Amino acid sequence: MPAKIIYGKEISAQIRVELKERVDRLKARGVTPGLGVVLVGEDPASVSYVTAKAKGAEEIGMFEETIRLLPTSTEEEVLATVDRLNRDPRFNGILVQLPLPKWVNPDKVISFISVEKDVDGFHPINVGKLLRGEPCAIPCTPYGVVQMLIRSGYSPEGKHVVICGRSNLVGKPLAALLVQKKKGANATVTICHTGTKDLPSFTKQADILVAAMGAPRVITAGMIREGCVVIDVGVNRVPDPASPKGYRLVGDCDFDGMLKKAEAITPVPGGVGPMTVTMLLLNTVEAAERKAN
Ligand SMILES: NC(=O)c1ccc[n+]([C@@H]2O[C@H](COP(=O)([O-])OP(=O)(O)OC[C@H]3O[C@@H](n4cnc5c(N)ncnc54)[C@H](OP(=O)(O)O)[C@@H]3O)[C@@H](O)[C@H]2O)c1
Repeated sequence: MPAKIIYGKEISAQIRVELKERVDRLKARGVTPGLGVVLVGEDPASVSYVTAKAKGAEEIGMFEETIRLLPTSTEEEVLATVDRLNRDPRFNGILVQLPLPKWVNPDKVISFISVEKDVDGFHPINVGKLLRGEPCAIPCTPYGVVQMLIRSGYSPEGKHVVICGRSNLVGKPLAALLVQKKKGANATVTICHTGTKDLPSFTKQADILVAAMGAPRVITAGMIREGCVVIDVGVNRVPDPASPKGYRLVGDCDFDGMLKKAEAITPVPGGVGPMTVTMLLLNTVEAAERKAN
């Protein structure tokens, strides 16, 4: 049997329907959840992410405002914008689109966002709360990965999850989330990275494999066991003369090769990507609900 394909777009659409209902309920109480997005410069990838976030927020009835700062903006100007959003009660969530110009310290900017409005879950206090298993904003991509697993019938509970990649954005928060003694988590977690010796010996042990390396098709069918559930977070551009753009997007896993061996697999694009924006909306709605209650 070929692997079941887990489409993030479908799961994402389902979650957005639920979110719209929650937004409607908040609005009936006189509260409109608000998201403030800070975009510094005109990096095309950042512009496209920010546009997707704004569109998603509008579609579920949230208030959204994108503050566009010049590419030459100073750290003080970025911090002043965050300060203004921190104080503005219309915004329940604040997102500063990364990367920032090299003279602006991203850690300083993220730590400056008020903890209650940090809907990316990157503030050091939220990172600590996640590790401790306390209620907090959960970083959007790891949150999306877990929701995809649960909603497609592959709960990580009791499973061995092998995560390839240990970034602060994906690998580490995902491990922190999965290792909690909670429903929808409670997994045995292994993290691999470039210091891992004999990567296949670990990936072959995975009931669930999460690839978040940014290394095109490095994980092949020979590196997983029969029946593994594969979540491919990686997004890589590879040259493709047949495409009008001259490139196409592939994941960290050899999707075609794994189709016959995996139990289920996410495509790239159309897998984890759409979930990330949806989880940002979810975090913002949750921040508004916490405030309203
Ligand atoms: N779909 C989405 O919404 C979404 C969101 C975020 C990221 N992504 C994608 O996910 C990928 C990872 O993103 P990131 O921000 O986590 O990247 P990152 O900060 O570059 O981290 C990559 C991690 O993978 C490890 N790694 C790289 N190559 C490896 C290899 N050959 N073998 C074993 N480990 C390897 C690195 O190990 P070391 O620590 O030892 O260097 C590092 O821990 C990228 O393709 C990114 O575009 C997608």
